[in-house]
Amino acid sequence: MSVLGILKYPDPFLKKVVDPVPEGEERIELFIDDMFETMRYARGIGLAAPQVGVGKRVIVLDVSPVDESAKPLALINPEVVEREGKEESEEGCLSVPDLTVKVQRAQKVVVSGYTPAWKLIQVEANGILAVALQHEIDHLNGTLIVDYLSRLKRELYRKKVKKMFARRM
Ligand code: NI
Repeated sequence: MSVLGILKYPDPFLKKVVDPVPEGEERIELFIDDMFETMRYARGIGLAAPQVGVGKRVIVLDVSPVDESAKPLALINPEVVEREGKEESEEGCLSVPDLTVKVQRAQKVVVSGYTPAWKLIQVEANGILAVALQHEIDHLNGTLIVDYLSRLKRELYRKKVKKMFARRM
C-alpha cells in the first residue's frame, strides 16, 4: 500500500466529471487500499479518486472518528438513488485547505454502488455518513465545497489560497 498525493484547490482536475469504472475491473482493489491509506494518513473521513488525480468513480469513507459504530466503506460507481429531508452542516475537505463551508444536503440518502469485490449493494445512511457520501459523490461530478459559497466568498478564498501558495515558493 502507498500514500498518494492529494490535489488541492484550485487544481483543474478537481473540476472534472470522472468516468465509471468498467464492471469487474480487478486492479481497482489495490487502488482502493491506497485510497484508504491516503485518507487515514491525511486524517480525513472520506476521499474520492479525483482527489488523488485518478479519473474514476471510486470513493472511500470511514466516519468512525465521528460515529464510533461506523465501519469503513468503499464504493465503486456510487449513485444516490433516494434522498429525503434537508440538513445543513459544516464541511471541510482534504482538497480545500483552511476552509469549512455550511452545505445543505439531504438528511437521509440511499446510495447504490459496487463493493471492491464487485458486489452491488445499497447503503442507507443518515447523519455524518449521509453527509460524507454526498460530499464524496460531489467530487466525482467536479463539485467542491467552494462551489457552495457565494461568489464573493469564493473569490476571497481563491485570493487567500494564491497567497498561501506564493509563500510556499
Ligand atoms: Ni472533499
